[in-house]
Amino acid sequence: MHERLDALRETLEAHGQAHVLRFAEELDEEQSSQLASQLESLDFARLSALIKTALKGPDDATSEDVGADSLQPPRVLDWGIDEDRDTLARQAGAELLSAGKVGAFLVAGGQGTRLGYDGPKGRFPVGPLTNRTLFAFHAQRVLATSRRYGAKLPFYIMTSRVNHEDTRNAFEEAHWFGLDPAQVFFLQQGMLPAITSDGKLLLSTRSSLSLSPDGHGGCFRALRESGALEDMESRGLEQLFYFQVDNPLAQVLDPLFVGHHAMERAEMSTKVVDKTDPAEKVGVLALREGKTCLLEYSDLPDQLAEARDADGRLRFRAGNIAIHMLTVDFLRQIATRDELPVHRASKKVPCLDEKGDRVVPDEPNAVKMEMFVFDALPLAQRSVTQVVLREDEFSPVKNAEGSDSPATCTAALSEQAKRWMASAGLAVPDGVAEIGPLFALDQEEFRANLTRGDFGPMFDRPA
Ligand code: UTP
Repeated sequence: MHERLDALRETLEAHGQAHVLRFAEELDEEQSSQLASQLESLDFARLSALIKTALKGPDDATSEDVGADSLQPPRVLDWGIDEDRDTLARQAGAELLSAGKVGAFLVAGGQGTRLGYDGPKGRFPVGPLTNRTLFAFHAQRVLATSRRYGAKLPFYIMTSRVNHEDTRNAFEEAHWFGLDPAQVFFLQQGMLPAITSDGKLLLSTRSSLSLSPDGHGGCFRALRESGALEDMESRGLEQLFYFQVDNPLAQVLDPLFVGHHAMERAEMSTKVVDKTDPAEKVGVLALREGKTCLLEYSDLPDQLAEARDADGRLRFRAGNIAIHMLTVDFLRQIATRDELPVHRASKKVPCLDEKGDRVVPDEPNAVKMEMFVFDALPLAQRSVTQVVLREDEFSPVKNAEGSDSPATCTAALSEQAKRWMASAGLAVPDGVAEIGPLFALDQEEFRANLTRGDFGPMFDRPA
């Protein structure tokens, strides 16, 4: 057998995983070395501990697991309710941005299985008139914000082994969307293996394990191991704006949110939208023992999901849109302390059976393990929960069709453009409209940047 595989045998046996070498004798040099590289990249002591926790966790939540009795709705900051405080927050945010103390952090390492697009999701076109991609929307927002505040704000992008090269290529081909390449830092998250219900690693071929990205919560470890954290320190960064690739309405580096988070001296903050339908598949924020936490929709018992206030609104309505502010100090703490909890999901994973024949299952046959960024929330001493308008800030591309699909997202971008046009007194077109981030980042800027010729449905500026 290949020497490197031979050297791994003892560790694999100690962790009950030596079956992955079952076909090792049949592998050629290249295949052996592929399997060896995958196995060497795993820390088996850590992996065994993760597997143990993942298999122990509950499948279905009951009110007892989530501690329903101890949960309260979070205290929220409602935009526009206290205008004086909003003005102060905007100023505080603008000061931090002008001083170059805030970076943007995009997590884009997911597999996008529901969308089923061949390539990184960020390459998906959503611009109603331009086919502007998700990456282009985000990068242009970072560029426009950098120009507005006169500081080259750094842009960290987390990829995974499944899309790292393609993501880098997308940026290179687009000449970094006008950004200075020195502003952009790519980092790769870790991978975790799919396992059987009794904790055994699955082979996807005779020479490879079935591996997938370790969840957006893998970002803390990835920030540490990639050197991104050191990069932040060397730039004197104090705050990070976290967002996800699938939502082109995300107001990246929004000064109001940056400012509220900083003024409250919060360590990790979240933007939420009002959840109005108890059945909507969105996680909600809650307070447990004074700490903010997130309850996934699948963990929220019906009795809590349906509970209403005296005014008829859902009691737990702070719907998470996965936009956070984090201090760099807090990031460092989470990245260096114990891991976030691991979650398990039952999935259909094509794999090899004992004889080496490929099986494509009809039913879930495997457990995938993932970490979630919002599990860091209860570890924060202070946290701001800011309510924003869904139509202005949240329309993700998750599914190929139906809700949260390219069609709904493109429509949301167009509707927003039309609202801004109407507010500026322009005639609103019957068809679609689009406003590029380099033309305007918000409604106020849109009005200020209009010139006499702006009568069409398309507002953009070259980088
Ligand atoms: P989702 O939970 O929607 O997962 O990710 P996904 O992989 O994009 O899509 P599905 O579930 O396979 O259809 C939300 C955000 O978190 C990122 C995604 O890239 C997206 O921006 N993410 C997810 C990671 O960066 N890494 C992961 O391991 C998982």
